[in-house]
Amino acid sequence: MNKFARIGVLTGGGDCPGLNAVIRAVVRAADGHGIKVTGIKNGFGGLVENQTIDLSLAHVSGILPRGGTILGTTNRDNPFNYRIIEEGRTVYRDMSQQALHNLRAANIDALVVVGGDGTLKIGAEFGVLGFPVVAVPKTIDNDIAGTERTFGFDTAVSVAAEALDRLHTTAESHHRVMILEVMGRYAGWIALHSGLAGGADCILIPEISYDIWSVLAKIEQRKTQGKLFSIIVVAEGAKPVGGELVGTAAAAGSSEKIRLGGIGEKLARDIERLTEIEARCTVLGHLQRGGSPTAFDRVLATRYGVAAVECLLEGHASHMVALVNNRILSLPFCRVAGKASNVPVNGELVRAGRLIGICFGD
Ligand code: F6P
Repeated sequence: MNKFARIGVLTGGGDCPGLNAVIRAVVRAADGHGIKVTGIKNGFGGLVENQTIDLSLAHVSGILPRGGTILGTTNRDNPFNYRIIEEGRTVYRDMSQQALHNLRAANIDALVVVGGDGTLKIGAEFGVLGFPVVAVPKTIDNDIAGTERTFGFDTAVSVAAEALDRLHTTAESHHRVMILEVMGRYAGWIALHSGLAGGADCILIPEISYDIWSVLAKIEQRKTQGKLFSIIVVAEGAKPVGGELVGTAAAAGSSEKIRLGGIGEKLARDIERLTEIEARCTVLGHLQRGGSPTAFDRVLATRYGVAAVECLLEGHASHMVALVNNRILSLPFCRVAGKASNVPVNGELVRAGRLIGICFGD
């Protein structure tokens, strides 16, 4: 006899290729154990607002290769600090009891939350209130502690690497510096992996503040070798030494203060100001997050979805499923929530990059 007759699943935070593959795996694995699944729409906001849909096998048929999430998502709503308009004013209220009430009213015994660090922290708070929650780590940025990989990262890297291949031919034809700005708020994993895969000359990441003169020295060095073009990949969260993050104010209620974007264009302007070389910037933006997941991400998302259901059945609530040494296991929230996985600046990948002549801006 299962402890759980019905579980809920929600997707929180920014979308990411592979979310539907996780939802499909959760529904299929739960069905195998005779457990029903309710989808919570639009992340934790949908939990407070009681927006649900019962998910049958038919609902998840055909969604494996689809990008986005059939449930919808938001990176704004936190039930413990929920944004409400009262008498024309924005106020924040603790709506966690409303969320718990909605879960109980829908006969949901446990929750699988699929999201990034913000989702993990909220999931952990529901765990403290005694509701069984298991998390699946999601973000294209690959910056969640405790796991070697978040699903979505492989797809984002593939998209960025293809973009670099395309920029290469136009850079070479026009003798230009071509800059690709990729996502990566706090961690430079996408820039690092796509830069290695796409043959970048400079990789600029949040973990290593860059000196514009080092970047220019690399471009000049290439010119002495007859290479009149250069390729730079820069993470949106990269900064010059002593400089600030580049972006605009985030929307009201957003979990982040700043909407990043623009460091690539700044770099292009600086290069043109300080040299005779033409520079152009391409911002890959949400192209990295949209569309179909790679085969790797489909497999990982499926493994995570199955593991999340098993984790609940084994009584490991308040755990996150994780990939460690290519095996799926689960880790308690207290070991992962609020912690980040950054690129080790003296790690093997950065060292390999340096040894093949890539400039990291330092
Ligand atoms: O966390 C993933 C991420 O892709 C970050 O790299 C980026 O800063 C953020 O999402 C962008 O989010 P939004 O879609 O809200 O602009």
